[in-house]
Amino acid sequence: DKGNHRHFMLKEIYEQPVVVAQTLRSYIRPVEQMVALPDMAFDLAAVERVVIVACGTASYVGMIGKYWIERFARLPVEVDVASEFRYRDPVLPPGTLGVVVSQSGETADTLAALRHMKESGVTTAGIINVPTSSMAREVDLLLSTHAGPEIGVASTKAFTCQLAVMAALSVNLARAKGRLDAEQERAVVRALIAAPETISAALAYDEAIAGMAGTIAGARDVLYLGRGPEYPMALEGALKLKEISYIHAEGYASGEMKHGPIALIDEAVPLIVLAPSGPLFDKTVSNMQEAQARGAQVVLISDAAGIAQAGENTIATIEMPEVHPLIAPLVYAVPVQLLAYHVAVAKGTDVDQPRNLAKSVTVE
Ligand code: F6R
Repeated sequence: DKGNHRHFMLKEIYEQPVVVAQTLRSYIRPVEQMVALPDMAFDLAAVERVVIVACGTASYVGMIGKYWIERFARLPVEVDVASEFRYRDPVLPPGTLGVVVSQSGETADTLAALRHMKESGVTTAGIINVPTSSMAREVDLLLSTHAGPEIGVASTKAFTCQLAVMAALSVNLARAKGRLDAEQERAVVRALIAAPETISAALAYDEAIAGMAGTIAGARDVLYLGRGPEYPMALEGALKLKEISYIHAEGYASGEMKHGPIALIDEAVPLIVLAPSGPLFDKTVSNMQEAQARGAQVVLISDAAGIAQAGENTIATIEMPEVHPLIAPLVYAVPVQLLAYHVAVAKGTDVDQPRNLAKSVTVE
């Protein structure tokens, strides 16, 4: 049932504050302001490195998780797409924690990667939305997302719930490794507790985004830029736009622009820049300005301070609330999803059932 919404995708975008809160409830003790994972049969303190494997949108959760686990737990993290991981010869020494991320829990390549890890003697955890799925049954530690059934083929609410669980896992690993004291943990947990409300605040820009979608709908190509955890968000933005609007889009790490893609820039290629205020802002904006000097038509997604500083000479700005850097990806997912959605609606494509795509990819 789509409720009052025109598409399942829009309904699921709007469910995010509720389902992220619901998911976090299983992983946070609000009174103690602590993260708590379910009981497990192994010791997180013994983890020496983490390998995260997934496909598509779920693989971007892995890339964001790498930033978090390295920052908080100071453990080396490797991330790969499942179809590559399983056919190379991954080195999986003792002390490796293997993590799979999957909405369906049935994606053939991710399931095969999980089995490969288990056969190699690796302890595994799975961030999974369907609790009865094959992966949910086979992982050593099931970390459920509580997004509810996701009907739209393009993943939205499952993605932000996966990020919420990944954040909790990162913090728990950090504590287990003695790299985060109680004070620091409380600060991070407060940021997570604020996420649902901040996602709601981001949803308030829906109409503004719908209003500017027309400027993107006519483009043949679109580029997305971000730095740090916003780099995987740029990849996610490009994937969402491609799959539902059929516009060719690419995401790049901001600093990679000048190593090739800047040659694509002209007035006909909109450039979507994801740049929350913070330590990475100035660098990202200087990459954006290099592109503007070559005629790029920029859409800047930032907060009020960022827009005040760098919003000039853009074709549009999308203002996000101010956010703790940890939850920025959960919040910036919203404008990225809404932009793809409204561009697809403007183009008249089948938003919930894009051509050539299936919800669950059970073939290799
Ligand atoms: C994109 C999308 C896909 C899935 C991928 C993995 O919007 O939905 O890229 O993320 O097919 O699927 P799961 O998470 O079911 O393993």
